[in-house]
Amino acid sequence: MLSRKVILSAFISLSAVVIAGGITLYFLFFDKSAVLVSENPTKRQEINALNFYNWWTSPGESAAINALVKVFMKNYPDVAIMPSAVVGGGGFSMMNTVKEMVMSGQAPDAFQMHAGYEGLPYYKAGLLDPVDDIWHSEKLEEVIPSVVQDMNKYDGKYYSVPVDIHRVNLVWYNKRLLDEYGISVSELSDWKGFFAACDKLKASGVEHPVRVGEAWTLSHAFEQFVASEGIDFYQDWINGKVLSLSNGRMLRVLENFKKYLSYADLNLTKDAWNEAIDDVKNGESAFMIMGDWANQEFKVSDKRYNIDYGVFPVPGTEDIYGLCVDTFQRPKNISHPTNADRWLRVVSSKEGQDAFNPLKGSISARTDADISRYDAYQQSAISDFWKSRYMFPSVVHGSGAPQEYRDKLSELISDFVINKDVNATGEALIAASLFFKDQYVINWSLK
Ligand code: GAL
Repeated sequence: MLSRKVILSAFISLSAVVIAGGITLYFLFFDKSAVLVSENPTKRQEINALNFYNWWTSPGESAAINALVKVFMKNYPDVAIMPSAVVGGGGFSMMNTVKEMVMSGQAPDAFQMHAGYEGLPYYKAGLLDPVDDIWHSEKLEEVIPSVVQDMNKYDGKYYSVPVDIHRVNLVWYNKRLLDEYGISVSELSDWKGFFAACDKLKASGVEHPVRVGEAWTLSHAFEQFVASEGIDFYQDWINGKVLSLSNGRMLRVLENFKKYLSYADLNLTKDAWNEAIDDVKNGESAFMIMGDWANQEFKVSDKRYNIDYGVFPVPGTEDIYGLCVDTFQRPKNISHPTNADRWLRVVSSKEGQDAFNPLKGSISARTDADISRYDAYQQSAISDFWKSRYMFPSVVHGSGAPQEYRDKLSELISDFVINKDVNATGEALIAASLFFKDQYVINWSLK
């Protein structure tokens, strides 16, 4: 049987939440007449509405969230539903907006949030209500894999419901380009083979075989280099235990990552992830490390899997499934608790997930998904999920390490792209783990 036990240990020390601003918002309003649903006149009257936040704004992502909203509207046609989408992949912009709202008592009815560490600041500040009742009424424990169950708990209680499971340790590639230059994916299972392929492409006139994008896409790629160093090393990293450079492992990770960056155009580190993946789509570049939300960006342009594009696990991580799990939760003191609960039920339902995930690139967080609705890539992902030897929670996508570390990582990796200083960056990463040592409150056991 698979070994992928995740232990969430429970106790938390309060930390300040950093709030920043400067975002772009757009709102989708559905024209429905609002009605009152409160039956108790002594309680605040509840308008029959629902407002929630997400950051699914790329063409592929918005198709998926629209499909989920449609399921909600079909089931609750009288509800005025107001999804607010904040532009910015990985949620880095949206999280700042939402933190500010939640902390000032203006929480939306629900918001997109990664399982694991990301919800801790809210939990610690007492701003979330548990959702064990939803898990029980919807019988979610019967259909959601235990590894994902654990990621939705703090102190033994559920505080969120998952809507998907994304895989992060993937390289997306332009298949026509690889075919043209006689490169087979079977040669790309280690960094040596991968870099040799990059050299071959360069020699053939592909100036930048690798594509990178904005800051979080760089730290996302770096995270996969850590995973390629081995699950034991990744486990130490997310438990804040990589505290010395003496065994050479972090230095090797950085050397390999530096080499990877040498094949990319580093003037493009402002591009959104989907703009970056577009260059792989159109053959400008051959490879990009990215989560499987990329799958849908190829598909919205009618690119065909295993004809125009393809994907393989990041070299050295074939038997590992890197997890990114999107969830929704129940903030305290929300305006529309009835509809917020309905939303959590739809989000975690088979119907909702089978509408959302086939358009998202992810797999359902439920084991009873209707597999016939998922594409060839997703069917292979489902099979890899079950047969992979190890799993790890993504740091960059909110789950694996304290948020403070995640933010510092992003800063250090952005600096590394400019200074390319392996030793200084290695030292700085260790200093960051030490500096935030009190924030490592989850003890991950990945082996
Ligand atoms: C991840 C999120 C995915 C996908 C991606 C790019 O953090 O979990 O659902 O949207 O960001 O925006």
